[in-house]
Amino acid sequence: MLRNMASLTVRQLDDALKEQLRRRAARNRRSMEEEVRAILRSAASDVDAPASPPESAGLPGAPPRTETATRRILLIIGGGIAAYKSLDLIRRLRERGFGVRVVMTNAAQQFVTPLAAGAISGDKVFTDLFDSDSEFDVGHIRLSREANLIVVAPATADLMAKIANGHADDLATAVLLATDKRVLLAPAMNPRMWSNAATQRNLTQLRSDGIAFIGPNQGEMAERGEHGVGRMAEPLEIVAALEGLLAKPKAQRPLAGKRVIVTSGPTYEPIDPVRFIGNRSSGKQGHAIAAAAAAQGAEVVLVTGPVALPDPSGVSVIRIESAREMLAAVEKALPADIAIFAAAVADWRVVETQNQKIKKGSGQAPPLALTENPDILATVAKSASKRPALVIGFAAETEQVIQHAKEKLAKKGCDWIVANDVSPESGVFGGDRNTVHLVTASGVESWPPQSKDQVAKSLIARVVQALEKKK
Ligand code: PMT
Repeated sequence: MLRNMASLTVRQLDDALKEQLRRRAARNRRSMEEEVRAILRSAASDVDAPASPPESAGLPGAPPRTETATRRILLIIGGGIAAYKSLDLIRRLRERGFGVRVVMTNAAQQFVTPLAAGAISGDKVFTDLFDSDSEFDVGHIRLSREANLIVVAPATADLMAKIANGHADDLATAVLLATDKRVLLAPAMNPRMWSNAATQRNLTQLRSDGIAFIGPNQGEMAERGEHGVGRMAEPLEIVAALEGLLAKPKAQRPLAGKRVIVTSGPTYEPIDPVRFIGNRSSGKQGHAIAAAAAAQGAEVVLVTGPVALPDPSGVSVIRIESAREMLAAVEKALPADIAIFAAAVADWRVVETQNQKIKKGSGQAPPLALTENPDILATVAKSASKRPALVIGFAAETEQVIQHAKEKLAKKGCDWIVANDVSPESGVFGGDRNTVHLVTASGVESWPPQSKDQVAKSLIARVVQALEKKK
């Protein structure tokens, strides 16, 4: 009798627990659907109205498929916490007119649902190797054949190991083994898993098999207190990398055969072993210019001060700290066809850097005598023997932006100046957007506010035009 009572209580408890779990799952589903609808609403307002009729969309309001024949991406979502970023990646791709078809591993479905991915991609999501529907309709060979490029994001340590060793025990790995298309992996994992010898061995193998990589980046991990290299690249970085892979062969691009030097980021001028004079430049504008030039086929040398950005793909990166180191690196990288100076170089450095940390305690602040740094832009623009054909400077101003930029153009001897307002309200230092004025000998052109990536692409497009005219 007692045993019955006890078992009844356990069963009741069990039922209550199940009910609670069912309610929680329903709540989670509702909030996931809300989130998806919000992404869809903003996607719908951002995306140009598509001409083609909508195909199967999981949720009402899903943006229809708009891909063109050359821009079809097969996105394989692996099982990691970064899988949530893949939903945004789908959205970013669709904004740019890519058709996106999604394959999800079993593990991925623990983090995001096929419903959410299907609603944003506007297509059925494929999950099973032995799904009779999908084998009849779109088998794994066809999934690969109909894509122009395959992206794996997040690529977990386990997926990397499977691909490196040719496994094909689920749909994702079968597609990857069967494909003849370019594959881009965006790894995401705990920093210790990334640095593990096995993962690094797999990375070397995959690279030598011709697989391309974007990231992982350095930073805070989803697990509390974890920090290091292992964060999945941001969706826009993945988009830029795949656009680079899909671009024309390098030899056919307009800057093929041209050498471009770009400076980026701040310089740090040491005061003592622990202190320095620096500024708020993030390197976003300079790095975007280097990436845009490389995307047009140029051989790019990026000389950068200390920044927390990943290296743009296809670019040679030289890291320096001080203005004098930046000048030495730029001079070493010459000759070049084009030089673009987007770095925020410190105008002054301390006359005497102390070898030991300066102590406080004497009651008086130490005197800091300053001296002027070499002007890298002016040195290169005025070089008699090694001046690139096109020298472009930037002007960071907080008042009379265009007037001061014109003065800098004349004083520094460059061909163009890109002037930007860097007052704190503009948010240009460190931000993602910029409003610039292109100042040349023939006048001033004011461009609308846009992303730094767009500024970079427009500037490089102008460079291409200028070179065409010179031919
Ligand atoms: O890095 P972000 O956060 O993306 O921000 C972008 C930016 C604001 C840094 C960028 O758009 C920009 O304006 N870069 C130039 C910053 C600057 O130092 O401007 P300036 O007006 O002080 O210098 C004029 C030009 O001379 C610049 O091309 C600069 O690189 C160059 N210069 C300056 C001093 C020096 N000693 N050597 C130089 O080469």
